[in-house]
Amino acid sequence: MVKTNDKVKILFITPEVSPFAKRGGLADVCASLPKALLKLGVQVDLILPFYWCVKEQSVSFTKVAEDIPVTLGWRQLAADVYQTETKEGIRIFFIAREEFFDRPSIYGTNKGAYFDNAERYIFFNKAVLAFAEKIQEKWDIFHCHDWQAALLPVYLKTYYFGHPTFGLIKTVLTIHNLGYQGTFSAEVFPFTNLPPHLFSINGLEFWGQVNFLKGGIIFADALTTVSPTYAKEIQTAEYGFGLDGVLRVNVHKLKGILNGVDYSEWNPEIDPHIAANYSVSNLKGKDICKQDLIKTCGLPLDLEQKPLLGMVTRLVEQKGIDILLPVIERLIQKEASLVILGEGEKRLEEALKDIAARYPSQVCFNLGFDKTLAHKIIAGADMFLIPSKYEPCGLTQMYSLKYGTLPIVRNTGGLADTVTDADLDTGKGTGFKFDSYTPDALWDAIKRALLCYQEHKTVWHDLVQQAMTCDFSWERSAREYLALYKELTK
Ligand code: ADP
Ligand code: GLC
Repeated sequence: MVKTNDKVKILFITPEVSPFAKRGGLADVCASLPKALLKLGVQVDLILPFYWCVKEQSVSFTKVAEDIPVTLGWRQLAADVYQTETKEGIRIFFIAREEFFDRPSIYGTNKGAYFDNAERYIFFNKAVLAFAEKIQEKWDIFHCHDWQAALLPVYLKTYYFGHPTFGLIKTVLTIHNLGYQGTFSAEVFPFTNLPPHLFSINGLEFWGQVNFLKGGIIFADALTTVSPTYAKEIQTAEYGFGLDGVLRVNVHKLKGILNGVDYSEWNPEIDPHIAANYSVSNLKGKDICKQDLIKTCGLPLDLEQKPLLGMVTRLVEQKGIDILLPVIERLIQKEASLVILGEGEKRLEEALKDIAARYPSQVCFNLGFDKTLAHKIIAGADMFLIPSKYEPCGLTQMYSLKYGTLPIVRNTGGLADTVTDADLDTGKGTGFKFDSYTPDALWDAIKRALLCYQEHKTVWHDLVQQAMTCDFSWERSAREYLALYKELTK
């Protein structure tokens, strides 16, 4: 069992935890931040839904609660709870109810979100409370992640106000991405069983709809987001997705804490997914990884001498595919090649399929979610593209830095906070940045990267060295979370 100082006990409530359920970086954060907190003596437990993809893991689960009653509007339902433990001794609980969570994917298909996501996650929030009450565990803090857990602060401050088990629990809500707020038609409000006055401008109402994240922002004791720059950006109309006003009112409890990297998973020296390991002092293995990636993608082997760009991403508007598409032909003319791995919106998938079919010897598009290929791209490419319209933190730029794959990023959110723009005169920097969200600005950054790679080999080598020695390990950020937890519980 884990040794803890019994001082702060945290429950992470989240829709994703790697490797059980992952659609994006939230899953990585919820797997790695608890490990870093544990090293600081904090007890962290996690709870998430018992999705189909969870059951498919080769892990044993113990049923720890059965038929816990959960009221959902006028319906009396029940939840079972399963538990497993990580090798570090972190307990992970899973809320099970087949009708809601036993489905092929987590949130929906590429045709759209599941029609009953409001009910699914209201049920999840309520079942977490019902379970916590049943097992009488004394958590000090509920650390809620994204809109899927954002109703918990609302329940604690209203329904459970002064309650013997829950009255003293504090809540932290981390906003990983303001673009996803859990906004649903007003008809779902009765499923929450919250008092009608909360469907108002000072509650969950948002332009006539129900907005779960807004409720969490108003009722949480503390708010965090995943980089300092994003914490500022979300208070502006450009990045606020309509909630900038609510965030400005609540700015006294908002803090930006940069995400970290789990270097036991993302480290070219020990990565088991890549063709050869390598380090900052011996980069030979990186060339082997490039050859392997070219072969894996069925590209011509002579590309090895030419610049290779990589990208691993959810295919959604946020990620900047719209400004990338118009520059792909310019890349082709510069004899560069491009490997993309991603899935998401159909229109973006189709556009990438189309361009890959037109330039099969220089563009490879891999449709799907593939952990091994993600590692191979991050290790095997020379440059890594993240032209995001907005990016709360972004993890892949930090991963690629560690692998000496120089990131080309838009200067926003966590990308702004983690990449230093290269100066070809001084040889200082770790990547290539651009400001405006346009194909031309992106192209200028790519051109600088290509020029450096092709004609200033020594500078390129220096940049790679600086990138690989950046340290974004979790410890510093975990200390910031710990300070926040202590502040809330003192
Ligand atoms: P976001 O959370 O917005 O998707 P991040 O950069 O924070 O962006 O995290 C993305 C995570 O998801 C990274 O671990 C990345 O490797 C992974 N990822 C994204 N798309 C895929 C994919 N198609 N296949 C494998 N891994 C993917
Ligand atoms: C979100 C953001 C991403 C961030 C991740 C983990 O999905 O889009 O920028 O890195 O959450 O916090």
